[in-house]
Amino acid sequence: MKTQLLIIGSGVAGLTLAVKFAEKFPKKNITIVTKGNEDESNTKYAQGGVAVVLDEKTDSFQKHIEDTLIAGDGLCDKTVVEMVITEGPKRFKELMVWGAQFDVDQTGNFDLGKEGGHSQYRVVHHKDITGYEIERALLARVHQLENITLLTHHFAIDLITEHQLKQVSENIRCYGAYVLNQKNGNILTIEADSTVLAAGGIGFVYGHTTNPIIATGDGIAMAYRAKARIKDMEFVQFHPTALYTNTEGSAFLISEAVRGFGAYLRTKNGDRFMPNYDERAELASRDIVSQSIDKELKKSGDSCMYLDCTHLDLEAFKNHFPNIYQTCLEHNVDISKDWIPVVPASHYLCGGIEVDTNGKTSITNLFACGECTRTGLHGANRLASNSLLEALVYAHNIYKYHCNHPISVKNKHIPDWNDYGTSIPKEHVLIKHNLKELQALMGDYVGIVRSNNRLKKAIIHLDVIYNEVEELYRTSKITTTLCELRNMVNVAHLIIGQSLDRKENKGGYFNVDN
Ligand code: FAD
Ligand code: SIN
Repeated sequence: MKTQLLIIGSGVAGLTLAVKFAEKFPKKNITIVTKGNEDESNTKYAQGGVAVVLDEKTDSFQKHIEDTLIAGDGLCDKTVVEMVITEGPKRFKELMVWGAQFDVDQTGNFDLGKEGGHSQYRVVHHKDITGYEIERALLARVHQLENITLLTHHFAIDLITEHQLKQVSENIRCYGAYVLNQKNGNILTIEADSTVLAAGGIGFVYGHTTNPIIATGDGIAMAYRAKARIKDMEFVQFHPTALYTNTEGSAFLISEAVRGFGAYLRTKNGDRFMPNYDERAELASRDIVSQSIDKELKKSGDSCMYLDCTHLDLEAFKNHFPNIYQTCLEHNVDISKDWIPVVPASHYLCGGIEVDTNGKTSITNLFACGECTRTGLHGANRLASNSLLEALVYAHNIYKYHCNHPISVKNKHIPDWNDYGTSIPKEHVLIKHNLKELQALMGDYVGIVRSNNRLKKAIIHLDVIYNEVEELYRTSKITTTLCELRNMVNVAHLIIGQSLDRKENKGGYFNVDN
């Protein structure tokens, strides 16, 4: 099939771009492919909100810029930071035009939250389910636009470039993607004038993550295999406060906004330890809080630390954080009298596919936006609630670029997917086993605190997994789980390799040998 704009991913980045493009060009067709249900994404689980300066009397762009630069620990691109933060309010207001609702206080002004690293109250939110509300509003608008085709349960396997056309070119171009219809197993060849990766994060490369299971780094792995530039992969952000439940897999997040609301971090014995590490205490930036918790865990040998909300106004807490309150209760934690057990968990990737301010990758006609990208906004550590903002701004920039530079590609002869000689995988156990090994390896050797020795060992172990997975991939009919595992192995390789290249500790990257 042929489409003008192919978007891979239906989170805030992909949907925002689709809506803008479809509204502006009603005669052009847009295809979104997404591998799960239409709303399944990291976006859906975003809690704290969107960091944005809406009232210059109480806040300022300059302060938001400074907070972002400080959190990024010297590695942000200042021009990008300024662009995103000053564009932010316009992009945020578009969400409201599409029907997203955000909390206001009794005076009718936005009820602003505060999170780690922010000097001001500036996080706009919808209770503690901001992402859910944004995703709902965007999907509702997508369904009103007739020139958008949204293909759910369609998994993008690989980008189509000269490589698939058996051509050699200095200037690599993208012509679309091969996409697996997960319901019937057919593989579509989707040709596109312009292709956009909006495929989200990598959290699931770690066994303990705040991300849903779709976060397997597919976009980054596809771009990497197509030879796009990938940068800053060593900066995996660990959120300090995931609910501790003694199980692997997706962990429920206790929003940083809860600390912004006044909650304290304590050891099992009740010691409030954050003031020992940073004068901002619980509201230091995320890298500092996670590293401090990690130190306390190692010092005490305990399995978790605790978030104490018992001194907070219960009614106000329930009003702002109904989902967190309820989920804690379901885990037998009554926040009015019990402390919440918490541990850090992999949460966000600050690096990814390198893009310029138009969202252009190093491959012609391939764009990217959202969490799969490295824009230069976050540097070595993302400031809380800057991710939704970044996705909105870059989706807009890609849209603007297309308004000014329409892209149209002549029909090419693109070969269909060739699975000659492959068979249905019989050994599902191998996929499961290798996934567990990979996640254990990343957690144990490539976690919050790294060392050269562990990173080098990780590469050796990863090679074994890589060879087994590649053999499976060559000989098997494509399945989603196999492709995801292959993608996660690629992503792990990038994280470890770029970690070894980094000789100075910055932000979320800490190596004891540096
Ligand atoms: P996503 O929303 O993850 O969407 C990616 C999409 O790509 C999904 O639809 C997925 O199914 C699809 N996809 C992936 N691979 C493929 C493939 N191979 N084929 C087809 N489709 C594919 N940020 C903030 O700014 N504020 C917050 O309060 C906040 N809270 C958060 C809370 C949690 C629990 C989590 C996990 C993250 C939070 N973040 C927050 C981060 C933020 O939510 C994400 O960075 C952002 O939503 C990413 O948007 P995205 O559109 O780039 O990716
Ligand atoms: C949170 O609510 O703590 C998450 C915010 C973010 O990841 O930006």
